Amino acid sequence: MFFLQIHWGNHRMATVKDVHDFWNRNLCGDEYTESQYLSIEYFEESKGIRYRYHYHIPRELGKLKDIKKNGKALEIGLGLGVDTQVLCELGYEVTGVDLTEKSVEATSARLAFYGLPATIMVGNAEALGFDDETFDIVYSFGVLHHTPDTQKAVNEVYRVLKKGGVALIMLYHRHALNYLAHLVTFTQFDGRREDPCPVERAYSRQEARQLFKDYSRTEISVDYLFGTGWGRINYFVPMGIKKLLGKYMGWHLMIKAVK
Ligand SMILES: C[S@@+](CC[C@H](N)C(=O)[O-])C[C@H]1O[C@@H](n2cnc3c(N)ncnc32)[C@H](O)[C@@H]1O
Repeated sequence: MFFLQIHWGNHRMATVKDVHDFWNRNLCGDEYTESQYLSIEYFEESKGIRYRYHYHIPRELGKLKDIKKNGKALEIGLGLGVDTQVLCELGYEVTGVDLTEKSVEATSARLAFYGLPATIMVGNAEALGFDDETFDIVYSFGVLHHTPDTQKAVNEVYRVLKKGGVALIMLYHRHALNYLAHLVTFTQFDGRREDPCPVERAYSRQEARQLFKDYSRTEISVDYLFGTGWGRINYFVPMGIKKLLGKYMGWHLMIKAVK
């Protein structure tokens, strides 16, 4: 299949500050929830919506279940902290970093509400403030394709992982139905015309392998046929078809890489 590479905006020039400012204005996941910010309804509704649409995430997080009992997990790029909550519930000692104060606030409030201890702080994927070989797992979903230097961030993940540690990373997939839809409709993956996301990229499997070339083993799979903007089409297509086609032309490249 031949696909053009979309470069929205001028993201080669975008800075980490531009990325911070965009996501601090647009708290990721908040747009799907109508409940009052940080209320119990907000926490529950956002979790329900997330896993109804992103049906593959619970299965992907399940891959991390038995990697290291009571091990140390790092999540990079938290959004509303729904997956962070699950990592805590899996029994990991969780540290979470996000570039934005807004996401740190929402994630901290969620974990406090459910009584889950974790260390949540502002941090940059491209310059993680942790020693080498600190974590048993690093998880990052839909984040590293939004940072100006994705390779630098992938290298940071490698640095902070212990030997034998596992990274589970989602990056957007270029050979995807959703990519094509955005290409023909001239719309961004995230953000809006009046407030465009400063950095967003999509990768082929081969390019993803190249990004993770320093790891000792890398498994890549594809899932999630539609993005979030497909409305009724997403609703009416049977799950069996979404899963079948999603394996080939899904929007999410799921990368499990062992250091
Ligand atoms: C598309 S959202 C994904 C959030 C969450 N993982 C989810 O799936 O809902 C991207 C998130 O990554 C964060 N982010 C972007 N670049 C980052 C960086 N360099 N370091 C840390 N976080 C970053 C943003 O602030 C935002 O919260």
